[in-house]
Amino acid sequence: MRYPRELIEEIRMQNDIVDIVSQYVPLKQKGGSYFGLCPFHHEKTPSFSVNSEKQFYYCFGCGAAGNVYSFFMEMEHCDFPEAVQKLAERANIPIPEREMTGQALAMEKLKERLFQMHAAAGRFYYDTLQSPQGEAARAYLEKRQIHANLCRKFGLGYAPDSYHALSDHLQAMGFSVGEMEKGGLVLPNKDGNGYHDRFRGRLMFPIFDVQGRAVGFGGRILGKGEPKYLNSPETVIFSKSRNLYGLNFAKAARKKELILVEGYMDMISVYQAGFRNVVASLGTAFNREHAAVLKKYAQDVILLYDSDEAGTNAALRAIPVLTANGIRVRVTQVPDGKDPDEFIKQNGAVEFSKLLLNAVHYISFQIACIKRKYNLDLVEHRVRFATEAAEALSKMENAIERDVYTAEVSRMTGIEEEAIKKEIQKLQNRQDAAFEKEAEQRRLQNMKSYGLAKGTEQGLLEAQRNVLYLSANHVHIYEVLKEILDLDDFTLSVYREAFSAMGTLWQETGSVFPAELLNFFEEPEQQKQITEIFTVQLPGEEDVDLQKIVNEAVQWMKRARIDRMTAKASSVEEIQKLVDAKKKLDALHITI
Ligand code: GTP
Ligand code: MN
Repeated sequence: MRYPRELIEEIRMQNDIVDIVSQYVPLKQKGGSYFGLCPFHHEKTPSFSVNSEKQFYYCFGCGAAGNVYSFFMEMEHCDFPEAVQKLAERANIPIPEREMTGQALAMEKLKERLFQMHAAAGRFYYDTLQSPQGEAARAYLEKRQIHANLCRKFGLGYAPDSYHALSDHLQAMGFSVGEMEKGGLVLPNKDGNGYHDRFRGRLMFPIFDVQGRAVGFGGRILGKGEPKYLNSPETVIFSKSRNLYGLNFAKAARKKELILVEGYMDMISVYQAGFRNVVASLGTAFNREHAAVLKKYAQDVILLYDSDEAGTNAALRAIPVLTANGIRVRVTQVPDGKDPDEFIKQNGAVEFSKLLLNAVHYISFQIACIKRKYNLDLVEHRVRFATEAAEALSKMENAIERDVYTAEVSRMTGIEEEAIKKEIQKLQNRQDAAFEKEAEQRRLQNMKSYGLAKGTEQGLLEAQRNVLYLSANHVHIYEVLKEILDLDDFTLSVYREAFSAMGTLWQETGSVFPAELLNFFEEPEQQKQITEIFTVQLPGEEDVDLQKIVNEAVQWMKRARIDRMTAKASSVEEIQKLVDAKKKLDALHITI
């Protein structure tokens, strides 16, 4: 799925990187560049630079790099096509319907079919729940006090205890078994002949995407048995690491705060109790992608995981993931190892709202969890507790909050606040030093001359970067090199793609502009790798012998390629040819 490249470039040119970055980060001009505090990592002195001429940004601290698209994607947590759309809107550039390749078109069609199929399957389960076959499931729902209107709203259903009920129904509606398998609704029989329904004899929860389309199902067993919940597998329309159950409903509440629970039943119960801003992470570990999705709808999250050990550990793991995305986190737990659903059933909505009001700052929760491991009557344990708490506190960014909680740890342990603060400071210094060391290495790497570390993998990569850097900055060098280098001379696919993209640009425009080259790459990691090539700071290029550098780099790339081929060669003749090729290289002298 691609937009025409000229359009992508037009949009890039109309969105000046200094303008865009300035909307998020205050910048100060220093020479040809602008500097500010990096939005991608925490820092006190600005190492984030934006180059107005090259239309790149680069952080000497954490290494974040790219053009205006990469920046926008990172800041807005969106993908490349979305960034193109938003930036086009901003520049008032109309964009046509997206051009699709045949493959992308087929994928869109398949997805559309799977959406339709899930809607049909959801309807089938729903109808079955209302039919005589659904009696036991209806009784179960009644026992769990889920009201009929909520069953409707959430599309709850029942999968009959049959191996073919759903697949027969879908087939009659014109869906193929292949489509059913791609959607995860049927499984091949063990003997290799035929298929059977994945969900049988279960209470069915359709899983919706944010637009409210059913993209998968969770099925709960009615009595006891394993597994308690059976979920749809990953499919082209369903990704567990991105989906949050109930987000389609919760987003309509338009609250800046979301309650995050673990299970289907918890989500539904909380919603039914009148708290509509609730989503569930459905048993999978809460990860970066979840956080990025959440961030679009909420600034604050109340973590309300089960209070058993598994739930507590899951909450502890979710905290850094959420905070790393700039989400403010508070935590609350249901007393006595119950889950939110059970709590509401027993105590009602009013008591539940008190639980929410009593949610504590995540650091309090972390500290309470650490405390549980120790017996504070013992001096030794008090010291160990305070040391571990200091470690958690050292990761807090807000100094005022940090002080408040430091005082709390001091009260709990009787250890002087000053002593704990010193420990925190020590840990922070250590973290800063480790970070600085990395940043320094990055700076050095970027300042270095063209000297190649001979015979090393690192040097070979550097040779390729030099070739790409010089080709993009001096069109006459590219014109010479395009006759000499093959794509196979490059060892990294991203470099290979870059060299080939240069060819395209050169043919179309007669030049190669690095920030434009970046339009060929849609993945942030690739964008970063390419940007890194162009952000090297060189000792004034007039001072170096470009011809020598080009010759050295090309020689090296060619020789390394021959060595790679030699390692794979399987006949004497082949090897002889390679030896000859290497000899010929001695005579290769490139003039630029
Ligand atoms: P109820 O017993 O119906 O109240 O379930 P619950 O919502 O309290 O679920 P629980 O706390 O046991 O688990 C939380 C979530 O983890 C569930 O909603 C499911 O999404 C998931 N989960 C639980 N058991 C299983 C299982 O056996 N297999 C899979 N794949 N997921 C499960
Ligand atoms: Mn439960």
